[in-house]
Amino acid sequence: MGALFCAAAIHVQAEPVRPMPNIIIVATGGTIAGAAASSTATVGYEAGKIGVDQLIDAVPEIKKISQVRAEQLFRIGSENMNNDHWLKLAKRINVLAKQNDVDGIVITHGTDTLEETAYFLNLVVKSKKPIVLVGSMRPATAMSADGPLNLYNAVILAGSKEAVGKGVLVSLNDEVSAARDVTKASTMLVNTFRSPELGALGYIQDGRPYFYRQPSRKHTTESEFDISDLESLPAVDVVYAYANSNRVALDAFVKAGVKGVIHAGMGNGSFSEPMKAGLIDARKEGVVVVRSSRVGNGVVARNGEARDDELDFVVSDSLNPQKARVLLMLALTKTTSTKDIQRMFYSY
Ligand code: DGL
Repeated sequence: MGALFCAAAIHVQAEPVRPMPNIIIVATGGTIAGAAASSTATVGYEAGKIGVDQLIDAVPEIKKISQVRAEQLFRIGSENMNNDHWLKLAKRINVLAKQNDVDGIVITHGTDTLEETAYFLNLVVKSKKPIVLVGSMRPATAMSADGPLNLYNAVILAGSKEAVGKGVLVSLNDEVSAARDVTKASTMLVNTFRSPELGALGYIQDGRPYFYRQPSRKHTTESEFDISDLESLPAVDVVYAYANSNRVALDAFVKAGVKGVIHAGMGNGSFSEPMKAGLIDARKEGVVVVRSSRVGNGVVARNGEARDDELDFVVSDSLNPQKARVLLMLALTKTTSTKDIQRMFYSY
């Protein structure tokens, strides 16, 4: 009997097809939704003009890689983002992040204050799910607009397992950055978001995220800050230092009743003699003083340019002034102890 050949059923274990991630896009406005009079105009446009559904329709590939839903929360230029917007956005993100049918969240945002919103959310969102902020430097109507690919990449990132547990992320121009480190570094270039000296966390290329670093400071689910019952945030303002700077603006902030002030100092957070007198008087009024630096890189060292122990000042570590303001506002919802607040600046 001839050998019976039976074709062995060759079971090739196919890669399990991963279901498409459920992504929600929460839109706030900005240039990514901006419209100008012509395709060559990259300034002088109206930010936030285009609705989120139209943004998604302009990138049909998004629906091929995700089950996407959208919410239009605001339609503003981010220069007008304020504490009320932040509280409303953070509360909405926390509600959405708890839902089982949400795997990741993308927030479209203007680039002017994107870093501040990202850091605020990094401190108050109570989820390990990917939260990705995205914007663009050219309006949606521009030739070679950067928004569509930025939005597509942000959806990829928000649906990736690699982004889980890394805190709030910022994704533009093929890079992935940490909310704490990233800052807007150019008024006009598409690669404006940089994490000077520390670098980005990774890239997105050809629809795939590549991570090379992890954020090392506490964020999201490790954070002690809770905004769920807050209707406002303590008033904190920033006073900028320069050659010949005086205390006039600082005194006005104190008179207006701020609870904290960030000094955007020169170099290692240094100040002029008139400003020093103003900061000492502010501290005597109970205002918490944080020494940051206009330089934007490096650590503002305690007891370096000022006798912080003696003056009862706090230093911002490496947070730039606008992010130091975010952390101080949240710190003041918990404590006025400068010892405790200093611990927070070394933790987040
Ligand atoms: N109005 C600015 C903003 O919304 C435009 C900058 C941008 O979004 O790129 O932040």
